[in-house]
Amino acid sequence: MARFAALFCFSILVVLQCASIDSAMAEEIGIYELKKGNLSMKLTNYGARIVSLVLPDKNGKRGDIALGFDTIQGFMNASSPFGATVGRVANRISKAQFTLNGTVYKLPANSGNNTIHGGPIGFSKVVWKVKKYSPDGAIPRIDFTYHSFDGEQGFPGDLLVRTSYTLLGDNQVCITMKAEALNKATPVNLVNHAFWNLGGHNSGDILSEKIQIFASHYTPTDSKLIPTGEIVTVKETPYDFLTARTVGSRINELPKGYDINYALDGSGSSRLKKAAIVHDEKSGRVMEIVTNQPGVQFFTSNTLNVKGKGGFMYKPHGGLCLETQGFPDSVNHPNFPSQIVNPGKPYNHIMLFKFSTL
Ligand SMILES: *[C@@H]1O[C@H](CO)[C@@H](O)[C@H](O)[C@H]1NC(C)=O
Ligand SMILES: *[C@@H]1O[C@H](CO)[C@@H](O)[C@H](O)[C@H]1NC(C)=O
Ligand SMILES: *[C@@H]1O[C@H](CO)[C@@H](O)[C@H](O)[C@H]1NC(C)=O
Ligand SMILES: *[C@@H]1O[C@H](CO)[C@@H](O)[C@H](O)[C@H]1NC(C)=O
Repeated sequence: MARFAALFCFSILVVLQCASIDSAMAEEIGIYELKKGNLSMKLTNYGARIVSLVLPDKNGKRGDIALGFDTIQGFMNASSPFGATVGRVANRISKAQFTLNGTVYKLPANSGNNTIHGGPIGFSKVVWKVKKYSPDGAIPRIDFTYHSFDGEQGFPGDLLVRTSYTLLGDNQVCITMKAEALNKATPVNLVNHAFWNLGGHNSGDILSEKIQIFASHYTPTDSKLIPTGEIVTVKETPYDFLTARTVGSRINELPKGYDINYALDGSGSSRLKKAAIVHDEKSGRVMEIVTNQPGVQFFTSNTLNVKGKGGFMYKPHGGLCLETQGFPDSVNHPNFPSQIVNPGKPYNHIMLFKFSTL
């Protein structure tokens, strides 16, 4: 079944490559729902984002495992991109600049002197077009597209972006993020920035959830979370999740918690590989993430403090993010896998979630 789903994800990509991106539908903000079996997912074209993901626990009781807000205004107000597609370049770019093909590109800084998540008005803060919407049936699916213009948030060239959410058999969610450079080479790093709590969005902290991350190495950072450029072993550090253990087991050895990029094992090819498995023993829910990306950002919402859905207060460690991605600040680190997308050679990011209960 896993193999089938993986193949299926690929075939969706092939279909996407053939479909042309036109501009037919109006850009009103809406909420859309996909349903299959016991899984239902709400999405919005504001930031091409996940609004909720409802699925049963081990006793059959349904619950929403995605942190978020009751209204679109709530998502707009939030300082983090809850559930959104983040870009043009997710994560950090140091000193808000990079050089490409001999040209220096200066970006708006929105995290001290650095740029984060595509700038102050990145892809998570724009309204996308809804291109395809099949709410139920055999393969529920929705596609969101966005045409990013040359110079938007300082980045070079027009870029056509498409995020697709598809529900597959056996409680699987496939996210594909695709980008096509129309006229200039540009860095691209799209991520899905959902905050998960497998016990339910309103169940408290994620410290007792068990996590396994399939990475022997990580990219250490300075105090501003900019990578030093090294790729070092997780051995004998709190970053070692090669064997499953609870999120909280060594979190006190870090200043605030996890906010780090892992170099996934088996990278170097764009094959699908396991990124992480999370298991919440109380609810029995299990989430496995498979991707074709070289890295994954593990973030434990270290300073979270916001009133979320149903008025529930989301506190530090109230959710965790596993953002499959290219390495942060790769435009300024030639030893990191390149994020440069050239015209004629689209970017394709696959993120496959397999949910189950134990
Ligand atoms: C939905 O959940 C119920 C209760 O847990 C279970 O009996 C049923 O098999 C599930 N259906 C599907 C299609 O997974
Ligand atoms: C969003 O922020 C505005 C201005 O601060 C505030 O009036 C409003 O209540 C907030 N809405 C939500 C849903 O958070
Ligand atoms: C930004 O850079 C300037 C000049 O290097 C420095 O003085 C300042 O402290 C930096 N600001 C932050 C928030 O890091
Ligand atoms: C790099 O710059 C050269 C000269 O300005 C230009 O001809 C070429 O198309 C550029 N390459 C890309 C990938 O943008």
